[in-house]
Amino acid sequence: MFMSWVQMLLFVSLLFPAWVESEIRHYNFTVVLKNTTRLCSTKPIVTVNGKFPGPTLYAREDDNVLVNVVNHVKHNVTIHWHGVRQLRTGWYDGPAYITQCPIQPGQNYLYNFTFTGQRGTLLWHAHISWLRSTMHGAIVILPKKGVPYPFPKPDKQKIIILGEWWKADTEAVVNEAIQTGLAPNVSDAHTINGYSGPVSICSSEGAYTLHVENSKTYLLRVINAALNDELFFKIAGHDLTVVEVDAAYVRPFKTDTLFLGPGQTTTALLTSDRGIGKYLIAISPFMDTVVAVDTLTGMGYLRYNNTHPLIPTTMTNIPPVNATSLTSVFYESLRSLNSKEYPAKVPLTVDHSLLFTIGVGINPCATCLNGSRAVAAINNVTFDMPTTAILEAHYYGINGVFTDDFPGKPLIPFDYTGTTTPLNLQTMNGSRVYRLAYNSTVELVIQGNSILAPESHPTHLHGFNFFAVGRGLGNYNPEKDRKKFNLVDPVERNTISVPTAGWTAIRFKADNPGVWFFHCHLEVHTTWGLKMAFLVENGEGPNESLPPPPSDLPQC
Ligand code: C2O
Repeated sequence: MFMSWVQMLLFVSLLFPAWVESEIRHYNFTVVLKNTTRLCSTKPIVTVNGKFPGPTLYAREDDNVLVNVVNHVKHNVTIHWHGVRQLRTGWYDGPAYITQCPIQPGQNYLYNFTFTGQRGTLLWHAHISWLRSTMHGAIVILPKKGVPYPFPKPDKQKIIILGEWWKADTEAVVNEAIQTGLAPNVSDAHTINGYSGPVSICSSEGAYTLHVENSKTYLLRVINAALNDELFFKIAGHDLTVVEVDAAYVRPFKTDTLFLGPGQTTTALLTSDRGIGKYLIAISPFMDTVVAVDTLTGMGYLRYNNTHPLIPTTMTNIPPVNATSLTSVFYESLRSLNSKEYPAKVPLTVDHSLLFTIGVGINPCATCLNGSRAVAAINNVTFDMPTTAILEAHYYGINGVFTDDFPGKPLIPFDYTGTTTPLNLQTMNGSRVYRLAYNSTVELVIQGNSILAPESHPTHLHGFNFFAVGRGLGNYNPEKDRKKFNLVDPVERNTISVPTAGWTAIRFKADNPGVWFFHCHLEVHTTWGLKMAFLVENGEGPNESLPPPPSDLPQC
């Protein structure tokens, strides 16, 4: 008698229990329109499986995840697994025209990747145009079976997704901005798990409620899935102990305010020790410069079981919109665990020392409303989206899609954070990448500039975790600032804020062959061109090259 494949696996797993510890997890993501009512009006939104926020992807470290994405809307779509390392699986990373052509209406694509060396909270989101405003959800990577958390085991876990809601269709919002050259309209509300709570324009709007039992420990997995706003997160009467960010454990620290840029995640422990009552959960925007922002506070509630329905809500003070010091305190509290089990493998030597100045400027535009348009750039290059995926062009050697001359330093140095802007405001265009040899090490100083207005930029690197080794205000000074870098236990993450009129230094090892997008995670800045890509070459050894693309890779 022959054993079936499944029987065989079962048989082998009995002999070698450890061998099958990791699992294959299948998910179906069907992209559909769904009529949704928020802020007292109804509009169709693009969703995954009709849900907003979308479904949660659960897995354990080392699990293989297969997500079949089927597109039933009229838009092209792709999905990005934000923060997933995608070791040698760059074909499944998701940014449109960088690693893949979009999944066209009526088509599907099977994303296939494994969680390696990561545990914690991440997010998935659409990675084309502004569709991620309604197409996003949580990724939860649990530790391997039998491996404990490096912190007290929580009794319960909760996912808290922060977002932004526009009453208008977000694709119309961004298209209008592209046509006029003006800044897009700011959102109409901030949401917690899809709800803003009552606001002036809709006093009957629902609110998210976190139901808790007294004397328990809750693990809150907080995700900023907003498009354009960095957010503060607070719960009245309760401190939070941060234990992990961007799916990397951190040295635990207590705080009453979390700070997250779009794309960032923060996992924190909450002890329900108030016995009874209803406590405000507040999310509010951070903006410490002259740029317009949606200033509405999103509200939810933490409610103890057996609390009387009429009990008044315990309030908390909302951080001022320009609370720069709160953001610095939060960032400076973040440290890697750097333990025996979870060492911080900071690159100690540097092969490529790069300086990227990032910011927003104005280019002439004959067809635009004011004869000019807002643009954003890295080292004065505004990225042009190609019409073929760069990864495919690289893999097949197709000419004319990209060039590999992205400048590693500003071509014309200037007083980046000064008040007198240089005259050469007009940026260059191009689909330029920066080439890295396999396993080379990179130190990248991301320097905010003040060309139009200085602004805080949450910048995201695909395909890698990096170490945030330094941070400062003003212009980066290599002689002075480099000496102060933390090369021992810097926080490891995939998205980091560059402070307003300041800089952030990161280090990473280019151990993942492929093409990896780097951009500001404020969607408005990505739209304007604040993006580029690193091209990491194959190594020589086995398992050091990018495998061929899957047969169902979408065509442009
Ligand atoms: Cu979360 Cu390139 O994005």
